[in-house]
Amino acid sequence: MLGMFEDDIFKQFKYENINFKGKKCLDIGTRNGLNCLNLINLGAKEVIGIDIDDRRFNELYDYINNNNISNEIREKIILKKINLLEMDENDKFDAITCFLWNMNYSEYNEIVLKIKLLLNEYGVIYIGLCDECYIYDENGVSVPKLFYNHFNEMRFICYNNIIRCQWILELKFKIDYKEKDYSKNYLNLPLLKKKIKINYI
Ligand SMILES: C[S@@+](CC[C@H](N)C(=O)[O-])C[C@H]1O[C@@H](n2cnc3c(N)ncnc32)[C@H](O)[C@@H]1O
Repeated sequence: MLGMFEDDIFKQFKYENINFKGKKCLDIGTRNGLNCLNLINLGAKEVIGIDIDDRRFNELYDYINNNNISNEIREKIILKKINLLEMDENDKFDAITCFLWNMNYSEYNEIVLKIKLLLNEYGVIYIGLCDECYIYDENGVSVPKLFYNHFNEMRFICYNNIIRCQWILELKFKIDYKEKDYSKNYLNLPLLKKKIKINYI
């Protein structure tokens, strides 16, 4: 057991047979880094966990030390104190995760564009949201809608009758993906929960 939130993530990926075999992963806003261990346990070959605040990185190191985690696993995880927006775009990832999404609202567009730049062509993104729409302010911003403007394949990883800590949104580019005009500010779009095609499993 890692922790309630981390165990919930692991359970949802396992249930849906989603694995990260051989993938180089980036975990944004990793906080205590424990989800990096989840990604390794799901097959990732390497995980870089980043956060602007490194005060809880010790929790991963303590967990590793207290649970006899092998050096082989330990060496696959790197925690870095860095702002996502400052990441080197030449370093690409096969999978990018951000659980319990709580990114700075004023930087939403920049953040999504940065995530795209860091993702390999056939990469996949998993965003953990504490509710299905993630509207948390008076502007009614919907995170799924924000991402849907940038990725053309989106679904929620969810199944019935589960008490979950967060909803996991999966995003990919389809093969025929064409770049859109991002000069518009998508943040002011109204919440379009009903209009977004959400493919429940
Ligand atoms: C709600 S916490 C999520 C923690 C973790 N992902 C989890 O599932 O437990 C959000 C984290 O994102 C980090 N964060 C916010 N903006 C960031 C940025 N621009 N770059 C990197 N980390 C950021 C915060 O410091 C915080 O630790």
